[in-house]
Amino acid sequence: MPGIPALSDQSMTFQSPGPSPVFHPTWPQAMEALADDPGVAVVLGGSDTGKTTWVASAARQLGRAGQWPLAIVDGDIGQSTIGPPATVALSVLKETRHLEGSLSFLPSHAFSFVGSVSPIGHLLQLLVATTRLVEKAVRSGARTVLIDTTGLIDDGAGFQLKLRKIELVGPRHLIALQREKELEAILSVVRERPGLRIHRLAVSPSARSRSPAERSAYRAQCFAAYFAKAKRLALESSRLCMLTPPTGRFRLRAGCVQPLLEPSVLCAEDLTGLLVGLNDPTNETLGLGLLEGASQDGRAIFVLTPLADAAPIRILQMGNLRLDQSGKEV
Ligand SMILES: Nc1ncnc2c1ncn2[C@@H]1O[C@H](COP(=O)(O)OP(=O)(O)O)[C@@H](O)[C@H]1O
Ligand SMILES: [Mg+2]
Repeated sequence: MPGIPALSDQSMTFQSPGPSPVFHPTWPQAMEALADDPGVAVVLGGSDTGKTTWVASAARQLGRAGQWPLAIVDGDIGQSTIGPPATVALSVLKETRHLEGSLSFLPSHAFSFVGSVSPIGHLLQLLVATTRLVEKAVRSGARTVLIDTTGLIDDGAGFQLKLRKIELVGPRHLIALQREKELEAILSVVRERPGLRIHRLAVSPSARSRSPAERSAYRAQCFAAYFAKAKRLALESSRLCMLTPPTGRFRLRAGCVQPLLEPSVLCAEDLTGLLVGLNDPTNETLGLGLLEGASQDGRAIFVLTPLADAAPIRILQMGNLRLDQSGKEV
């Protein structure tokens, strides 16, 4: 498969598959439409409306219909199931055994660091990451690409984000999971897009809301799993370009690598544990790291990362969150 490496061990196998989902009567019809008419499918809905549950169920249904290869792009940067939080991740599936457990058992074939666990302030990064990975999925030969998304659908940023995402990826199917009519504003804008099929689905009565504490505990668990085998890696600072976050408390001067290299600045800014993307020259993410410090002479930057090879890393993309040893945001 071009551009898609063999299944890696980056899957996070700590979640049990859980009970079988209870399908709302509106669900099977949309899944059949996808099986009959493969293409890119965007799944939209507020938080806890069952988007991820629907994606997992649809993937199993498509698998049973023999629709391989099948791709899932997980664009929910806060409650990621594939790849670590703060990233958009791609999994390309080729056989049934990939779908036997929950989505968090799936390996990520590629992921793109967004820099935040919330879309606000990182809309461009989220859009570009999603588009790049959908393109990669299509290039890999996936017949159907299921795109899971965040629950941000409000009238302001959420409306713009979802509308522009639809414009960029040009889906064949739009799965709209609504409690009431909260997606109708977006749907009214795209309803006459040529080639787009809209499926309005009801939220299952079994859908359960998660508290902010549950959400952040889940993220900590995901980060801990990702960094479980991390080791210190030294990056040569003269070969690195620094991308600072667009907003927030860790904002340094744009493109400026120097202040970070001074240990005094590192301590004063309290950047230890800062989540960073370790990216190649095209800004594709090779892995994530946690900033540890810099050498006295400033020639080396130390990161904790599961990546073993520093050679291809050219861009260090700073996120807007710091993690402690247990993966908790501090
Ligand atoms: N159809 C369903 N049957 C059983 N449980 C569901 C169903 N839809 C959602 N849930 C439960 O509700 C919670 C939120 O669902 P999830 O799919 O994670 O929502 P979202 O991805 O929209 O945030 C999860 O605990 C999930 O297991
Ligand atoms: Mg979800």
